[in-house]
Amino acid sequence: MTTTPDLDLMPGVEATPLALLLLGRQSDPSSERGVDCPGDLPAASDPTLVARARAAKAALGDRVFVLGHHYQRDEVIQFADVTGDSFKLAQQAAARPEAEFIVFCGVHFMAESADVLTGPDQAVVLPDLAAGCSMADMATFDQVEQCWDVLTAAGIADTVVPVSYMNSSAAIKGFTGRHGGTICTSSNAKRALTWAFEQGTAGHPTKVLFLPDQHLGRNTAVREMGLLLEDCVVYDPHKPGGGLTVEQLRAATVILWKGHCSVHGRFTVDSVRDVRGRVPGVNVLVHPECTHDVVRAADLVGSTEFIISTLDAAEPGSAWAIGTELNLVRRLAKSHPDKTVVFLDKTVCFCSTMNRIDLPHLVWSLEQLVEGVVPNRIEVEPETARWAKAALERMLALP
Ligand code: 13P
Ligand code: SF4
Repeated sequence: MTTTPDLDLMPGVEATPLALLLLGRQSDPSSERGVDCPGDLPAASDPTLVARARAAKAALGDRVFVLGHHYQRDEVIQFADVTGDSFKLAQQAAARPEAEFIVFCGVHFMAESADVLTGPDQAVVLPDLAAGCSMADMATFDQVEQCWDVLTAAGIADTVVPVSYMNSSAAIKGFTGRHGGTICTSSNAKRALTWAFEQGTAGHPTKVLFLPDQHLGRNTAVREMGLLLEDCVVYDPHKPGGGLTVEQLRAATVILWKGHCSVHGRFTVDSVRDVRGRVPGVNVLVHPECTHDVVRAADLVGSTEFIISTLDAAEPGSAWAIGTELNLVRRLAKSHPDKTVVFLDKTVCFCSTMNRIDLPHLVWSLEQLVEGVVPNRIEVEPETARWAKAALERMLALP
C-alpha cells in the first residue's frame, strides 16, 4: 500500500518538499494533541503489517470497532468498519454500545467526542496521541472563558448562544453545554445556527458565538442564511477585549472566533482561477472551512460527506476540482475513473495530524488490545464530559 500521492492523477500538481510532509512528527504536550506513541512501533517497511492488522482485528472480533475519518490514509482506511465525516463517526460511536474498544482513526477531538458519547465500560483508543488538530488548538478553554467575561462585561452574555464546531477540545464542548449551546459539524452548521437563533425572542434576539472556525461560521451565516458580512465580527483571543469595542460586540449578530484550518486555508481564489484555466469545464467543489472568497468563487460547497455524494452522483465525463484534504481527493480520483478529479491546489498537502495515524500505529494499537493492554485511551474527565455530552446530544437531536 503506497502513501505517496499519485501525481499522474493530478494534472499540474507538484509534490510538496518532504519537510512539509514531516510536519507534526514532533509532538506538543501543551496543545490539544498529545505525546508520541509510548510503545515499540513496528517498522513502516515491515511487509507483514497488513496481515498483522487483519489477524489482530480477527482475534478481537466484535470486541473492537474501528472508525475511520475520510481524511485517513488508504493503508488505515482499509481496516475501518465504518468511514465517515466527523458527524457520522460521532453517530456511529454512540450507536455501538456492544463494542468494548472503539479504535478511532481520526484526530484527538473526534476521539474525545466518541468517549463522551460511549458508555463507561467502552474504551476509545487513538492510535497516535499526537494526532491533534491545529484548528482545535486555536481556542483554549482559558481563552474561551476570558471571551465570556468580555461578553459579560459588554452586557450581552445572556443573549449569546455558543455554537462550537466539532473541531474543538472536550473542555470547549463542556463550556458550550454549560452555556446552553450546541456543537455542530460542517454538515449541520446551518441547522445548528438556525436552532441557536430560535432560542431568542423578537424582543430579545439571540447572538451566536461561533468557534473556533471563523470560515465555517461566516460561510454558513452569510452564504447559507443570508446574513450580511457586516453582521459578523471576528473575536481575536490574542487581543484585549478580542480586539473589538463594546459597540461592535453589541451590534454583531455573529461573533466569530479567530481560528481557521491550516489545510483548507491554503486554497485561494487564485487556485480556483488557475484550475478553471487548466481543466476545461471543471466544477469547483470545496469544504466550508475554506475562506469566504474561495467559497464564493467555487461552484459547490459542502462537508466531506457532501463532497463524496456529489461525486457519486456526477455525470461520467464531468470534471471536478476538490478543495479538501488530499487523502480523500486521491481516493475520489481512484474510485471515479470515469470522471476527471483533481486537487484544487497545485501543491500537494495532507493534513499532517490526520496523517499521524499510519499502519504501524494501527497495528501496534490492535496488537496491544489483543494482549489485554488498552493503549492511548482517550478519557474525558466526568464533569467536562457531562456538559460536553449535553452539547453533543443537542447536535445529534437537531431537526
Ligand atoms: P468533516 O466535518 O467534514 O468531517 O470535517 C472535519 C475536518 O476536520 C475538516 O477539516
Ligand atoms: Fe484540523 Fe484542518 Fe486537519 Fe481538519 S484538516 S483535522 S480542521 S487541521
